[in-house]
Amino acid sequence: MSDEKLNGTAAAPAGADGEPTPIIFLDDIRVTFKTRTGSILHPNKVQAVRGLTLKLMPGQTLGIVGESGCGKSTTANVMCGLQQPTSGRVFFKGKDVTKRTAAERRLIGRVISVVFQDPATALNARMSVHDQLMDPLVVHKIGDKASREARVQELIEMVGLPGSVLDALPGQLSGGQRQRVAIARALSLKPDAIIADEPTSALDVSVRAQILNLLMDLKRDLGLSMVFISHDIQTVRYISDRIIVMNAGVAVENGTAEEVFSNPKDEYTKLLLGAAPSLLHPELGK
Ligand SMILES: Nc1ncnc2c1ncn2[C@@H]1O[C@H](COP(=O)(O)OP(=O)(O)O)[C@@H](O)[C@H]1O
Ligand SMILES: [Mg+2]
Repeated sequence: MSDEKLNGTAAAPAGADGEPTPIIFLDDIRVTFKTRTGSILHPNKVQAVRGLTLKLMPGQTLGIVGESGCGKSTTANVMCGLQQPTSGRVFFKGKDVTKRTAAERRLIGRVISVVFQDPATALNARMSVHDQLMDPLVVHKIGDKASREARVQELIEMVGLPGSVLDALPGQLSGGQRQRVAIARALSLKPDAIIADEPTSALDVSVRAQILNLLMDLKRDLGLSMVFISHDIQTVRYISDRIIVMNAGVAVENGTAEEVFSNPKDEYTKLLLGAAPSLLHPELGK
């Protein structure tokens, strides 16, 4: 048996160079926003992303870190198809979906889920937790009524919440519980990848580590790929296999967590590494 068979790469769909096909491949992406308020220095345009190339590989956690406004969320939105790039190409499992059809958009939405900073973005304040978890299954016509009910029960257990939460409205839950529900909803269609855009930033410090650990456990148990976005480099270090450091729309660093931390190439990264202590609960990573 060859080494290739042993480590499983032979079974994966291979690219021309023999490496597995990335779930997402962004090729030289630029996103320019037109703004209403212009000035002489910035004439009505914001270059949110300026020539970004990245790959999300199967089973990998890719961390994206950088200060507020550096283009992280815009990148996340391009990855999940919410934002059309101004130039560059987006590949989804090897297929060019830059100019995607409605059917492709639906498929991407099913296979790549997003967890936002504020769970209120993902949840409907007037719907019970049960109905919000049921909703994607109904919309995508998954299974019959009994199997959907079973799936809702399974989802709520997966995120560590008691079944009694199903009857509650989001407003009756704590911030941490709401984010757990948002994660359950993101998992409902069995995605291949989760994009978590600052998923703990809006939460109480005391529950941040729990939500991070939940995401890591789910990622491992379900064999997901994950993009984890944060402005806190220690959080990203804790969770990521590979790390991209963004500064003003550009990836100034792109390597394994080990490479980026032990041998940062860019002055900006050194600054980040030397700056502020972790925003996480101190118990984390011990
Ligand atoms: N829809 C938009 N219209 C105009 N400017 C935007 C829009 N979205 C983001 N921007 C600008 O693009 C830049 C990058 O924003 P964003 O991707 O949200 O950064 P981050 O998530 O890293 O904080 C910022 O200067 C922001 O003001
Ligand atoms: Mg953001």
